[in-house]
Amino acid sequence: MLVDAAPYVDACVWSYLAAEEALGRLESKGSLGTRFECGITEALIYAARNAELALHAVPSSEFKDVRAELQRQHRVALAAVSPKALRRSFQFWKSAAFQAALDAARSGSLQLQDVPVCLPLLRSVPLFAVEPFVVLPGGKTMPVLGFGTGIFNLSTEKLVDIVALAARLGYRHFDCAQAYGTEGAVGEGLQRSGVPRADLFIATKLSKPSSLGSGETRCLVEDQLRKLQTAYVDLYSFHRAFLVGENAVAARASWRELEKLCSEGKICALGVSNHSVQQLDTISSFARMKPVVNQVKFDVFRPGYQHPKMGMENIICACRERSVHVVGYSTLSGWPLALRAVQDPHVAAMAERYDQPPARLLLRHALQRGIAVIPASANPDRMASNLRALHEPLISDLHMSLLDGLACLASRCAGAPGWVPDPYRTSASR
Ligand SMILES: NC(=O)c1ccc[n+]([C@@H]2O[C@H](COP(=O)([O-])OP(=O)(O)OC[C@H]3O[C@@H](n4cnc5c(N)ncnc54)[C@H](OP(=O)(O)O)[C@@H]3O)[C@@H](O)[C@H]2O)c1
Repeated sequence: MLVDAAPYVDACVWSYLAAEEALGRLESKGSLGTRFECGITEALIYAARNAELALHAVPSSEFKDVRAELQRQHRVALAAVSPKALRRSFQFWKSAAFQAALDAARSGSLQLQDVPVCLPLLRSVPLFAVEPFVVLPGGKTMPVLGFGTGIFNLSTEKLVDIVALAARLGYRHFDCAQAYGTEGAVGEGLQRSGVPRADLFIATKLSKPSSLGSGETRCLVEDQLRKLQTAYVDLYSFHRAFLVGENAVAARASWRELEKLCSEGKICALGVSNHSVQQLDTISSFARMKPVVNQVKFDVFRPGYQHPKMGMENIICACRERSVHVVGYSTLSGWPLALRAVQDPHVAAMAERYDQPPARLLLRHALQRGIAVIPASANPDRMASNLRALHEPLISDLHMSLLDGLACLASRCAGAPGWVPDPYRTSASR
């Protein structure tokens, strides 16, 4: 397959600038957490892989020194223990010689190996339609395109308006959590929207270890129901894996209490978030009501795992094998790392072909993989636009695999995640 080199050049520049910007933020703040720091090296690795591919558009006899240094920079980024060690690398990324090589590649094209269209591990839905609802084990119906309410830069009054607008626009699934502190605004917004409660799917979570234990959990859920102005929530999840270490006993008691709350009709279905396969199995081993949803990070760079160095397992496939539905979060924003998928030049180029905004293409990609999405936005036009992802034409198998493969380009470990077919191999060896 012959492809234009321009998006590879653009992706290289975009990602090393993102790495530099993130490094600047890190240096001014001191520390932003290991995930964020890993995101900086990840962005530089993505830059290196894109540049290596782009340079296949130029005869291999040209820019030999630049190619050799690029390979060295790639190794440096892969080995970097601290992103601060990468500061000096930017001399290379911004050097005139490297820019000249990229300029030479920009108008060329490169030959990728044929892409396997069979994607056994990611494919789950028949690729002819995306159903707007999924029926969870136990019978609850969940809309697959929801609205994220982890929106932190708005006043309560503004958030109430946004939630009311979201419901009026047609969002029916609202994702909340104890940690977001927005349940009061969501409850008020949904009341003001006038949408009947029976038409809504409200999900929330237990986020804080201080709310573990049967009494504490019951108190929390009742408080959340009050804030959300509802007699029941459709889905209630553990925000993270509490069933290990010091919280394990209290977390088990909490789960039992959640099961009781289900039998009282205050919760319809139970779920988890950010759970690995092992953590999912731990909870399922004692649960009388098993989790039916796992909410995990899902964007094209990290399909199912949040940390770039850990948890490279195929959680999506594992969830499916266990009849657990996957809800993907931060599909657009890049959180908690540095690369924002919605700005990626490969995504932009493909979105143009489909005559769609990049965000809609990304949401559509996840939906076509059978993953529910919960984009957040405080912008009415973007809120309306995102909702249309359900009704876009199908993304072809080829383009789906090119989007899936971005995870291989961004992966911090060479070649991982191994369960995503890597279409970004040129017919010349890399
Ligand atoms: N379980 C967990 O641990 C966890 C973690 C993180 C998030 N979540 C949930 O997932 C939800 C979504 O995640 P998120 O808030 O990180 O990110 P997201 O939905 O991936 O992206 C939101 C960001 O993208 C922008 N955006 C939205 N639509 C856009 C469009 N069409 N074009 C361009 N930009 C667009 C928004 O800006 P504007 O507002 O300006 O449009 C906002 O900055 C959260 O609200 C929360 O409910 C769960």
